[in-house]
Amino acid sequence: MSEAKGLATLPQKNVLVKVEDGIAWVTLNRPAKRNAINPGIVYEMNQVLDVLEYEEDAKVIVITGSGDSFSAGMDLKEYFREPDAGNPVDRERLNRANSGWQWRRLMYYPKPTIAMVNGWCFGGAFQFLCACDLAVTADDSTFGLSEINWGIIPAGIVTKSVSMAVNQRKSMYYIMTGDTFDGKEAEAIGLVNFSVPRAQMVDKVKTIAKKLMEKNPHVLRACKVGYHYVRDMTMDMAAEYLASKIDATKFRDPEQGAVKGMSQFLDDKSYRPGLGAYKRD
Ligand code: ACO
Repeated sequence: MSEAKGLATLPQKNVLVKVEDGIAWVTLNRPAKRNAINPGIVYEMNQVLDVLEYEEDAKVIVITGSGDSFSAGMDLKEYFREPDAGNPVDRERLNRANSGWQWRRLMYYPKPTIAMVNGWCFGGAFQFLCACDLAVTADDSTFGLSEINWGIIPAGIVTKSVSMAVNQRKSMYYIMTGDTFDGKEAEAIGLVNFSVPRAQMVDKVKTIAKKLMEKNPHVLRACKVGYHYVRDMTMDMAAEYLASKIDATKFRDPEQGAVKGMSQFLDDKSYRPGLGAYKRD
């Protein structure tokens, strides 16, 4: 059970959180270190996800960075060198907490998530970039799988995440060369949904968030979580899982969207599913 007790309990130090018009803006806040992920961010992000899960006003979560950087990846000093030299139990706990927020929780998070990549995005940052449901960036952002350039492989699940988002040739090229690329290339290879001029980035995110907020949140949650689960299933398993989930969603949905949608289309003839959403109360 979560210990979360609301926004007021958040430290607002390594991670800033502001909820406005249904959007929770979650900002990694170590601009002087280009938002490199240190233990402070790791433990605070776990707390933030706990709190936002229960925060009714937070309908869509946007993850971004302070200053000119989304995140320069894992902090080479505070995440690697120092913990590697310390107590192995603490090292293991830190790894667990990091994979916790960066993908284990984020991928299956019950609310929609958008990565707003506002600048530098390297190495470990690809984990939470790929774990977010959607991603928007600025054309002049810089992405890089730089691990090869300092003698490690893209570990954690960076390689796996990239291989699932991006095709083989592009994945292999960027993993093997460490070459950087810009927002437009990130969009072209499928790493982000949209790359736009910097001045339009926030508005683009708000437009997408608004669209998501208009959907039935119970069904939206089942759609996004279901997508991640079925990717690793066989066809038969996926069919069985999705059949169960469609029943569960109909049963649990407090607004009974499926009944309403059906009735508005078949009985009232008041809407066309192909042209928009059913009318929610
Ligand atoms: N780990 C630790 N410290 C970092 C990191 C990092 N990943 N990235 C930046 N910093 C620190 C710098 O050491 C510097 O600290 P200092 O002011 O105490 O010297 C400060 O942040 C600012 O960095 P600069 O390099 O001065 O900033 P600049 O704007 O010139 O360059 C850039 C930004 C390109 C992001 C550069 O900092 C960089 O290459 N960082 C490493 C990126 C990387 O390869 N990340 C992958 C890490 S491995 C992984 O995630 C698995």
